Amino acid sequence: MASDGIDRYGVMGYPVSHSRSPVIHRLFALQTGQNLQYELLQVAPDKLQNAVRQFQRTGGKGLNITVPHKAEVARIVDQMSERASRAGAVNTLVFQDGDIFGDNTDGVGLIRDLITNLGIQLRDTNVLILGAGGATRGIIAPLQESDVASVTIANRTLSKARDMVTLFKSSGSITACTFDEVSGQRSYGLVINATSAGVKGDSPPYPEAAISKETFCYDLSYGLTPTPFSRWAAERGAMRSVMGWGMLVEQAAESFHLWRGVRPDTVSVLKQMAISAS
Ligand code: ATR
Repeated sequence: MASDGIDRYGVMGYPVSHSRSPVIHRLFALQTGQNLQYELLQVAPDKLQNAVRQFQRTGGKGLNITVPHKAEVARIVDQMSERASRAGAVNTLVFQDGDIFGDNTDGVGLIRDLITNLGIQLRDTNVLILGAGGATRGIIAPLQESDVASVTIANRTLSKARDMVTLFKSSGSITACTFDEVSGQRSYGLVINATSAGVKGDSPPYPEAAISKETFCYDLSYGLTPTPFSRWAAERGAMRSVMGWGMLVEQAAESFHLWRGVRPDTVSVLKQMAISAS
């Protein structure tokens, strides 16, 4: 608790100044009448453990954990949800009775955005994921649980895509390939960009064969203007091409629910975000 009696939360990342989480959680708190404070906490990797424990010791109630700390923080939690262990990453901490509970709300955030906000049918859909890093690992199991027909992981480095297949092959149809090997023979209903290329200002040769006029394209990255991938997909004639703003708000709502026991209305917050983004 803060000295003025308000429950304290925050987001730890490095860098973190660009994070929208404080705005989103303040909007949730306003909407649901919850009295809380949410801080932006820039923490270097070698200071992470101390910073988390310090936040806990001083009465903090919960944290969001973002890039680059999501895998590392999993090492200091006392208990971890099954979805966080499958993702190999933690994005939400709950401090309770002296213990640290770690969860991961990214996967459920993506699925809610796809199904509820965007009206995409996942069942029996062939899904292509570009990239095989931490972001990819966090979304495979939730997609498989949504009964997709197949998951294909295309990555610049084939061995990393193959590692993902090894991790998730017992839960559904999953294959690995390079960008060059993506063929137009399988029609993809959903293509997700989970590479960090755009964030780093790169524009790799994304696989053109993946896109048809029936393909929905989703970039886990987001920005005030279209990301390179979402622009590319729209230009290639995809049915629709969207950025991950909805996932961001939905994962935050799930964290808020874990902390406060109330579920905020995300649609109105997404609308407010769109206004502030324009
Ligand atoms: P994250 O945790 O955000 O997923 P990561 O683990 O560093 O980040 O993974 C980044 C992903 O983006 C990887 O799949 C990486 O491809 P490699 O495994 O070949 O490194 C992919 N990526 C990053 N920059 C890229 C680029 N310019 N072209 C193609 N893929 C890129």
